[in-house]
Amino acid sequence: METVLSTQGLSKQYGSLKAVDKLDLVIPKGSVFGLLGPNGSGKTTTLGMLLDVIQPTAGSYQWFGLPAGKEQRKRIGAILETPVFYPYLTARQNLKIVALIKEVPQTAIHKVLDQVGLAERQHDAFKTYSLGMKQRLSIASALLCNPEVMILDEPTNGLDPQGIAEIRNLIMGIAQQGKTIILASHLLDEVQKVCSDFAVLKKGKLIYTGKVSEVGHQQETTVLVQASQPLTELLNTCPMVVHSQVQPHGKTEVVLHPPYTASDLNKWLFEQNIIASHLEAKTKTLEKQFLELLENA
Ligand SMILES: Nc1ncnc2c1ncn2[C@@H]1O[C@H](COP(=O)(O)OP(=O)(O)O)[C@@H](O)[C@H]1O
Ligand SMILES: [Mg+2]
Repeated sequence: METVLSTQGLSKQYGSLKAVDKLDLVIPKGSVFGLLGPNGSGKTTTLGMLLDVIQPTAGSYQWFGLPAGKEQRKRIGAILETPVFYPYLTARQNLKIVALIKEVPQTAIHKVLDQVGLAERQHDAFKTYSLGMKQRLSIASALLCNPEVMILDEPTNGLDPQGIAEIRNLIMGIAQQGKTIILASHLLDEVQKVCSDFAVLKKGKLIYTGKVSEVGHQQETTVLVQASQPLTELLNTCPMVVHSQVQPHGKTEVVLHPPYTASDLNKWLFEQNIIASHLEAKTKTLEKQFLELLENA
């Protein structure tokens, strides 16, 4: 696994407030990495430090295995806040200015406009754009210098469902080109839908990091069982069971050690000559796990 970014003890303190607290992150090349956390958890501050616009108070980081520097920064495209475009100029005219500033050939403009789905509207003034189109133009602007890494801070904030879907598709399209994407979001759903890896921040501290696909794995499985006879005593003799409890509705809630599943339990019950009339596996959603992480951290 190649690493695009690693941080060691990266910290930012404002007075007595630890906005980012000893952050150790490893971001694999080619990943869509979600930085997930509630408002105020330190996501934007983290991205600001990684982009060299906020001075860390402690710790260090390396892009592409190299210490921070201008050359590394050029390989990164970022949208921290909605960039300022000239309202009366068209998308194309605005990007021409960006291309001049970034010293990118003008020929790059059409490609990025096409990529973000604005080719047809490129001759319309920026001020006539919807919020979603403005956001896509920001992404186009960040893509102009063909960066290896794209950093997006709350990319779907304020957008309607269609705008959100468009941005998500765009992000996944960019990822398919092999670029690494780092996306800060307070929206669990967003991270779950587009990210391959994620880290959870709470009050500036890293409380979890892992693959989105592995969330819920290696977790206890909860099963609801109903049978014609009481089960708890018998279940306590079952090696798969962590604990079991009769619920008010009469079903028994059974928590299983990983990697046992509802069907393992069903098979075991059958071997004990018990036929379950109801068996329901309740897998943990990312949301539930996330809320638990935040509560317990
Ligand atoms: N310039 C600043 N001065 C003082 N406190 C700040 C400053 N910027 C951010 N903070 C504080 O740092 C914490 C993290 O903020 P931020 O990184 O914006 O969180 P997030 O992006 O996760 O919502 C918050 O408590 C915020 O109020
Ligand atoms: Mg933020």
